[in-house]
Amino acid sequence: MTVLEGPSVRLRPLVPDDYATVFGWYNDPEVVAPFDRFSVDTMDSFVRSVEAAPTDRSSLAARFVVERKDPPGVVGFVGHYLPHPVLEYVDVWYVMGDRAARGKGYGREAVRLLVDHVYATSSVDRVGATCDVENAASYRLVEGLGFRREGTLRSALFHHARWHDVYVYGITRAEWTARARPG
Ligand SMILES: CC(C)(COP(=O)(O)OP(=O)(O)OC[C@H]1O[C@@H](n2cnc3c(N)ncnc32)[C@H](O)[C@@H]1OP(=O)(O)O)[C@@H](O)C(=O)NCCC(=O)NCCS
Repeated sequence: MTVLEGPSVRLRPLVPDDYATVFGWYNDPEVVAPFDRFSVDTMDSFVRSVEAAPTDRSSLAARFVVERKDPPGVVGFVGHYLPHPVLEYVDVWYVMGDRAARGKGYGREAVRLLVDHVYATSSVDRVGATCDVENAASYRLVEGLGFRREGTLRSALFHHARWHDVYVYGITRAEWTARARPG
């Protein structure tokens, strides 16, 4: 099992004991709203997608839970995927399901571990993230890791009954390697 250790959190693959918690977060509008639409239909489809993800580079399923070390507990989940059939880059996404654990740096630490993992296990040069322009927590998280805002996709995401603009962020392998740590 791949376990990625940081100072305050570790990332580890989901195990069956995590399914109810993470499935609950996926489907809790208080967790994902107002910025996205991560909801899945049924527990069965959720489990199928999580278990198929390791062999599907384009899978949107959660890849790791974020486990806080002190006090111990699962506080979030993250994923990475190939978003485009031709372009070669990986996008990362991240949810701190435990809302009481937000704003303490765990999200940024988790994404730092995730990006390290993507670069260590693939040959991609660019890692990206897309963030609703209204989601300051999401884009500030990646800005703090050195991602650059590369542009805006207009009306690219539909949720909560309207279209939303989305910022495109990215970092290259050379930029990531050159960053001072921790950042
Ligand atoms: C986005 C999210 C993962 C951030 O996780 P987190 O653990 O709270 O983030 P961190 O504590 O590491 O903080 C990261 C940055 O966001 C800022 N931030 C945190 N919460 C914020 C808020 N509510 N509003 C504005 N900025 C916020 C922090 O100040 C920090 O930026 P700074 O260092 O420039 O000050 C979390 O808010 C979340 O799960 N949101 C719902 C799901 C979501 O929107 N996911 C992103 C989709 S890709």
